[in-house]
This record gives sequence, C-alpha cells and structure tokens, in this order.
Amino acid sequence: IQPDADQMAQWAANYIAAKINSAKPTTEKPFKLGLPTGSSPLKTYKALIKLYETGQVSFENVITFNMDEYIGLPADHPQSYHTFMWDNFFSHIDIKKENVYILDGMAEDPEAECAAYELAIAEAGGIDLFLGGIGPDGHIAFNEPGSSLSSRTRVKTLTTDTVIANSRFFDNDVNKVPKTALTVGVGTVLDAREVLILVNGHHKARALYHAVEGSINQMWTISALQLHEKGIIVCDYDACAEL
Ligand code: GLP
Repeated sequence: IQPDADQMAQWAANYIAAKINSAKPTTEKPFKLGLPTGSSPLKTYKALIKLYETGQVSFENVITFNMDEYIGLPADHPQSYHTFMWDNFFSHIDIKKENVYILDGMAEDPEAECAAYELAIAEAGGIDLFLGGIGPDGHIAFNEPGSSLSSRTRVKTLTTDTVIANSRFFDNDVNKVPKTALTVGVGTVLDAREVLILVNGHHKARALYHAVEGSINQMWTISALQLHEKGIIVCDYDACAEL
C-alpha cells in the first residue's frame, strides 16, 4: 500500500526492473513479461522508461505479451492497444519489435488468433511476471463479470459498464467503442509465475474490497488472484477506502 499513484508506480517499476535484472535474461533465455493497457499502468511505464534511460534496466532480452485488444481496430488506429503500447512504452525502450506480442484485433479468424496466442506463450516458456490493472467492476484484462476463472484467450463481449468507462478514449461516444475484444483468460493470467496488479483511486475501492476480502467468484474476476501463490496488489490509500 502506497500513499499515491506516483509512489505505487515507482514501487512497481523498481520491482519489475529488479525481477528482470535478477533473471539475467539472454536471447536464449528471455524474460517474459505480461502487460496491460489503461490509465493504471501509465505512470509505471514512465518510471520503467526512466530506469531504462538511466541504465538501470534493459528490455533487450524481454518478450512481452499484452493482455487484450479491441476487435475491429487496426493496429494503427489511435485507440488500438497496439498504438497505446508503442506510444506509451515500447517506442521509448530497447525492446526488439519481434519480441512484442499483441493480439490482432483484425484477425480474420479470431478464435485461431487466440489459440495461436496461447501457443506462443507456451512456446516462450510461460509468463514470468504479469502486470495488470482492473476495471471498477473488478475485471482483469477483458474478463468481464461472469467470466470463467479457468478461461483462456478468447473473444469477449464487453459489458455496458466497460463500454461506458472506455468511451472516454472515444470522444465520450459509446457508439465508437468496440463492443468485443480478444483477451487473455483469467486462467492465462493465473498461469504466470507472478502477477502484479495496480489498483488506484476511489473508483476502484469496491473492486479492491472484492479482490482482497470478498469470496473468490466469477463476478469479480480479480478475486481469482487469491488463488495465486505470488499475487501482488500494489494500491494507493484511496483504493483502500473499503477495506
Ligand atoms: C480496460 C482494460 C483492462 C484495464 C481496465 C481498467 O478494460 N482491458 O486491462 O485494467 O480497462 O482501466 P484503467 O486502468 O484505465 O482504469
């Protein structure tokens, strides 16, 4: 628990950098990092970029797998998660383009795309550390309330709440927000060796309560983190209001 979002981000970035450094990754044995989009990780990405710029971490031998992508948005769409990741993180660090994995929201066969993604994660040797955020309804990636806790990468229909929440990136127009997405499953996230979730702000307090003190159930998919041996929540005072 940190006082505010800035200190949360510094804590998380230091933790991630320390994990990468202690793994001493090489081309043959890269570090596999799962990554989210959204406002929650923005400050952590900034802090990681700073650590990179000051020579405290390198992403040369890091492979990344993003959590999700909207269906129907081409990679170069301003609101695609591809654009988000390159603008806010990848363009500022030494990661190799071929080491970046993001689901293709324009795939002709979305189910085949999801199966191939799971295979790519498995072939890379699994994810070492999955960084994530949560929605105000406790969803992780796009695993909306009701998602199976053993779900794998698949197509999900977004809830009205999520469409409304994310409309802030689409000129506040819900009609412009894609209604479906490709997303890793809760099971995919839980398979990572470590999971680190960022939760800040009053609007996430209810979700954090359900994540930490509620029962494990599919209506608050983040609650599944309680099953993980190394599940870490990094949060601020505001998000703790209901604990
Ligand atoms: C979207 C993303 C999630 C993210 C959530 C919360 O639904 N698919 O991965 O955790 O938004 O976003 P924010 O961090 O902007 O509150």
